[in-house]
Amino acid sequence: MKLFVFHTPELTPPNRVPDCAIAIDVLRATSTIATALANGAEAVQVFSDMAQLMQVSDQWQPDRRLRAGERGGATVEGCDLGNSPLDCTPERVHDRRLFISTTNGTRCLERVRDASTVLTAALINRQAVVNYLLDKQPETVWLVGSGWEGAFALEDTVCAGAIAHHLNSHQDTEMIGNDELIGAIALFTQWQGRLLELLQQASHGKRLLRLNAHDDLKYCSQLDALTVLPIQQEPGVLKKH
Ligand code: MLT
Repeated sequence: MKLFVFHTPELTPPNRVPDCAIAIDVLRATSTIATALANGAEAVQVFSDMAQLMQVSDQWQPDRRLRAGERGGATVEGCDLGNSPLDCTPERVHDRRLFISTTNGTRCLERVRDASTVLTAALINRQAVVNYLLDKQPETVWLVGSGWEGAFALEDTVCAGAIAHHLNSHQDTEMIGNDELIGAIALFTQWQGRLLELLQQASHGKRLLRLNAHDDLKYCSQLDALTVLPIQQEPGVLKKH
């Protein structure tokens, strides 16, 4: 297995996709996707464009859908939800499809949607992602951070490092990959006991704290809290594996 870490979707090699692409947006899109599916959502359908989300979700019965929209950390007007994983309670999401558009996370998923396997990862479902990789052994894996508007995001890279570090401890063979992979593992190794603190220092973490999302940071920093593995079933549609 060859493992490549990309800090943002923009840094991925153009006109190529890997065997398995893993989109990461710890704060908060992939934490929200994992939580919605763990709590019984029928599926999560992602859109980079808000108008398109409204158009497609209009074709669903109102009691079978939820619309989640986030820009700059705040809820988009006209949506049922923003992008807080804590809003995806079982009562709210059960048997409904979550239609979601966020600033960076859904754009990251769009970039990798043509890979034969597309997964989403967050700190909260790290173990489920590692289990899948150990079982399926895809030849080329990309761990793609969503970043923030094209820039590096600490929380996504530490999650890539958490996956790679755990994978490495379960394999005898030497890990092959890019320099970013080594950097991500080093970041995780340094901060693994203080993930909440790291999220609080990250620039998007600070942005969310200004929006009073303290509990979101706490929730998103919990390693291996959920066993769910979101996997793309058709372009843009993720279900439980
Ligand atoms: C994003 O896609 O940029 C994030 O998920 C933003 C957020 O924290 O809501």
